[in-house]
Amino acid sequence: MKVKAANVVPSFLLVVILLVLVAGCGATTKKTPTKLKTEGGTITLQQLADVQPGAGRIMPLLGQRMTIAYYASKAGKWELADYELKELGEDAEVIEKTRPDHKKDIGHFVDGSSFKQLKSDTKSKDFTAFQTSFDKTVQACNSCHKSSGVSFIQYKLPKTQPEIPYISN
Ligand code: HEC
Repeated sequence: MKVKAANVVPSFLLVVILLVLVAGCGATTKKTPTKLKTEGGTITLQQLADVQPGAGRIMPLLGQRMTIAYYASKAGKWELADYELKELGEDAEVIEKTRPDHKKDIGHFVDGSSFKQLKSDTKSKDFTAFQTSFDKTVQACNSCHKSSGVSFIQYKLPKTQPEIPYISN
Protein backbone atom coordinates (compact mmCIF):
# COMPACT_ATOMS: atom_id res chain seq x y z
CA MET A 1 0.00 0.00 0.00
CA LYS A 2 1.26 3.39 -0.95
CA VAL A 3 1.46 5.89 1.92
CA LYS A 4 0.40 9.34 0.78
CA ALA A 5 2.53 12.28 1.96
CA ALA A 6 -0.69 14.19 2.77
CA ASN A 7 -1.62 11.53 5.38
CA VAL A 8 1.86 11.23 6.90
CA VAL A 9 2.24 14.95 7.65
CA PRO A 10 -0.91 15.34 9.83
CA SER A 11 -0.19 12.16 11.87
CA PHE A 12 3.41 13.33 12.37
CA LEU A 13 2.04 16.65 13.62
CA LEU A 14 -0.35 14.82 15.93
CA VAL A 15 2.54 12.87 17.49
CA VAL A 16 4.48 16.11 18.03
CA ILE A 17 1.45 17.80 19.63
CA LEU A 18 0.90 14.81 21.93
CA LEU A 19 4.55 14.79 22.98
CA VAL A 20 4.42 18.49 23.78
CA LEU A 21 1.24 17.97 25.83
CA VAL A 22 2.69 15.03 27.77
CA ALA A 23 5.89 16.98 28.47
CA GLY A 24 3.79 19.95 29.57
CA CYS A 25 1.73 17.85 32.00
CA GLY A 26 4.86 16.32 33.46
CA ALA A 27 6.27 19.77 34.05
CA THR A 28 3.17 21.02 35.85
CA THR A 29 2.98 18.03 38.22
CA LYS A 30 6.68 18.25 39.04
CA LYS A 31 6.70 21.98 39.61
CA THR A 32 5.75 23.02 43.16
CA PRO A 33 4.61 26.63 43.43
CA THR A 34 7.10 28.28 45.72
CA LYS A 35 5.64 31.77 45.47
CA LEU A 36 2.27 32.52 46.99
CA LYS A 37 0.28 35.69 46.50
CA THR A 38 -0.70 37.89 49.41
CA GLU A 39 -2.38 41.28 49.27
CA GLY A 40 0.95 43.00 49.68
CA GLY A 41 3.05 40.89 47.31
CA THR A 42 4.38 37.36 47.10
CA ILE A 43 5.81 35.15 49.83
CA THR A 44 7.49 31.76 49.62
CA LEU A 45 6.17 28.45 50.94
CA GLN A 46 9.11 28.46 53.32
CA GLN A 47 8.06 31.84 54.71
CA LEU A 48 4.53 30.48 55.14
CA ALA A 49 5.89 27.45 57.03
CA ASP A 50 8.07 29.68 59.22
CA VAL A 51 5.10 31.66 60.52
CA GLN A 52 2.93 28.69 61.47
CA PRO A 53 2.13 28.84 65.20
CA GLY A 54 4.31 26.53 67.28
CA ALA A 55 4.13 25.48 70.94
CA GLY A 56 5.18 28.92 72.18
CA ARG A 57 2.20 30.57 70.54
CA ILE A 58 -0.44 27.92 71.14
CA MET A 59 0.41 26.86 74.70
CA PRO A 60 -0.88 30.07 76.36
CA LEU A 61 -4.23 29.22 74.77
CA LEU A 62 -4.14 25.77 76.36
CA GLY A 63 -3.58 27.40 79.73
CA GLN A 64 -6.43 29.81 79.14
CA ARG A 65 -8.81 27.05 78.07
CA MET A 66 -7.96 24.94 81.13
CA THR A 67 -8.75 27.90 83.40
CA ILE A 68 -12.03 28.67 81.63
CA ALA A 69 -13.01 24.98 81.62
CA TYR A 70 -12.44 24.83 85.39
CA TYR A 71 -14.43 27.91 86.31
CA ALA A 72 -17.15 27.10 83.81
CA SER A 73 -17.60 23.67 85.40
CA LYS A 74 -17.60 25.22 88.83
CA ALA A 75 -20.36 27.57 87.71
CA GLY A 76 -22.29 24.64 86.26
CA LYS A 77 -21.72 25.86 82.71
CA TRP A 78 -20.97 22.36 81.45
CA GLU A 79 -21.57 23.10 77.80
CA LEU A 80 -18.94 25.83 77.92
CA ALA A 81 -16.48 23.59 79.78
CA ASP A 82 -17.03 20.84 77.24
CA TYR A 83 -16.47 23.29 74.39
CA GLU A 84 -13.22 24.60 75.92
CA LEU A 85 -11.80 21.10 76.35
CA LYS A 86 -12.74 20.13 72.80
CA GLU A 87 -11.02 23.25 71.46
CA LEU A 88 -8.02 22.63 73.73
CA GLY A 89 -7.58 19.20 72.11
CA GLU A 90 -7.82 20.73 68.65
CA ASP A 91 -5.31 23.47 69.51
CA ALA A 92 -2.91 20.84 70.78
CA GLU A 93 -3.32 18.96 67.52
CA VAL A 94 -2.27 22.06 65.59
CA ILE A 95 1.09 21.80 67.39
CA GLU A 96 1.35 18.17 66.23
CA LYS A 97 1.20 19.41 62.66
CA THR A 98 3.34 22.53 62.89
CA ARG A 99 5.98 21.03 65.21
CA PRO A 100 6.34 17.35 64.33
CA ASP A 101 9.01 16.95 67.02
CA HIS A 102 6.21 17.35 69.63
CA LYS A 103 3.83 14.98 67.80
CA LYS A 104 4.47 11.95 70.02
CA ASP A 105 4.15 13.84 73.34
CA ILE A 106 1.10 15.82 72.27
CA GLY A 107 -0.57 12.63 71.00
CA HIS A 108 0.23 11.00 74.33
CA PHE A 109 -1.42 13.90 76.18
CA VAL A 110 -4.53 14.22 73.97
CA ASP A 111 -5.20 10.47 73.96
CA GLY A 112 -4.02 9.99 77.53
CA SER A 113 -6.29 8.77 80.33
CA SER A 114 -6.33 12.01 82.39
CA PHE A 115 -7.49 14.30 79.59
CA LYS A 116 -10.02 11.72 78.40
CA GLN A 117 -11.36 11.32 81.94
CA LEU A 118 -11.62 15.10 82.32
CA LYS A 119 -13.75 15.30 79.17
CA SER A 120 -15.94 12.47 80.33
CA ASP A 121 -16.44 14.03 83.80
CA THR A 122 -17.51 17.21 82.05
CA LYS A 123 -20.05 15.25 80.05
CA SER A 124 -21.41 13.59 83.20
CA LYS A 125 -21.46 16.98 84.97
CA ASP A 126 -19.72 15.68 88.08
CA PHE A 127 -17.72 18.55 89.59
CA THR A 128 -16.05 16.45 92.32
CA ALA A 129 -14.79 13.94 89.75
CA PHE A 130 -13.90 16.84 87.43
CA GLN A 131 -11.64 18.38 90.11
CA THR A 132 -9.70 15.14 90.50
CA SER A 133 -9.20 14.63 86.78
CA PHE A 134 -8.41 18.33 86.37
CA ASP A 135 -5.47 17.94 88.76
CA LYS A 136 -4.30 14.82 86.92
CA THR A 137 -4.52 16.62 83.58
CA VAL A 138 -2.47 19.52 84.97
CA GLN A 139 0.14 16.98 86.06
CA ALA A 140 0.19 15.57 82.53
CA CYS A 141 0.65 19.11 81.11
CA ASN A 142 3.48 19.87 83.47
CA SER A 143 5.22 16.53 83.11
CA CYS A 144 5.48 17.21 79.38
CA HIS A 145 7.03 20.57 80.24
CA LYS A 146 9.63 18.69 82.27
CA SER A 147 10.41 16.19 79.53
CA SER A 148 10.49 18.98 76.92
CA GLY A 149 13.15 20.88 78.83
CA VAL A 150 10.86 23.69 80.04
CA SER A 151 10.29 22.49 83.62
CA PHE A 152 10.25 26.16 84.69
CA ILE A 153 6.81 26.39 83.06
CA GLN A 154 4.29 24.87 85.43
CA TYR A 155 0.64 25.62 84.71
CA LYS A 156 -1.32 26.42 87.82
CA LEU A 157 -5.02 27.16 88.16
CA PRO A 158 -5.50 30.81 89.22
CA LYS A 159 -6.81 30.76 92.82
CA THR A 160 -9.52 33.23 92.03
CA GLN A 161 -11.61 33.32 88.90
CA PRO A 162 -10.15 35.69 86.36
CA GLU A 163 -12.43 37.95 84.36
CA ILE A 164 -14.17 35.66 81.89
CA PRO A 165 -16.83 37.68 80.10
CA TYR A 166 -18.98 34.69 79.22
CA ILE A 167 -19.13 33.27 82.75
CA SER A 168 -21.38 35.51 84.75
CA ASN A 169 -20.39 35.67 88.37
C1 HEC B 1 4.49 18.36 74.08
C2 HEC B 1 4.39 18.42 75.50
C3 HEC B 1 3.51 19.45 76.10
C4 HEC B 1 2.24 19.27 76.59
C5 HEC B 1 1.43 17.99 76.59
C6 HEC B 1 1.83 20.54 77.13
N1 HEC B 1 2.80 21.48 76.95
FE1 HEC B 1 2.71 23.43 77.51
N2 HEC B 1 4.51 23.76 76.69
C7 HEC B 1 5.31 22.81 76.07
C8 HEC B 1 6.52 23.46 75.58
C9 HEC B 1 7.64 22.76 74.84
C10 HEC B 1 6.42 24.82 75.95
C11 HEC B 1 7.43 25.93 75.65
C12 HEC B 1 7.10 26.60 74.34
C13 HEC B 1 8.17 26.51 73.32
O1 HEC B 1 9.18 25.84 73.55
O2 HEC B 1 7.97 27.08 72.24
C14 HEC B 1 5.16 24.98 76.66
C15 HEC B 1 4.70 26.17 77.18
C16 HEC B 1 3.54 26.34 77.89
C17 HEC B 1 3.08 27.58 78.49
C18 HEC B 1 3.83 28.90 78.50
C19 HEC B 1 3.57 29.64 77.24
C20 HEC B 1 4.25 30.98 77.24
O3 HEC B 1 4.94 31.24 76.27
O4 HEC B 1 4.07 31.75 78.18
C21 HEC B 1 1.88 27.34 79.06
C22 HEC B 1 0.99 28.33 79.79
C23 HEC B 1 1.57 25.95 78.82
N3 HEC B 1 2.60 25.37 78.11
C24 HEC B 1 0.42 25.34 79.26
C25 HEC B 1 0.12 24.01 79.01
C26 HEC B 1 -1.09 23.37 79.47
C27 HEC B 1 -2.18 24.02 80.28
C28 HEC B 1 -1.03 22.08 79.03
C29 HEC B 1 -2.04 21.00 79.23
C30 HEC B 1 -3.42 21.28 78.94
C31 HEC B 1 0.21 21.92 78.30
N4 HEC B 1 0.88 23.11 78.31
C32 HEC B 1 0.60 20.74 77.73
C33 HEC B 1 5.04 21.48 75.94
C34 HEC B 1 3.85 20.86 76.31
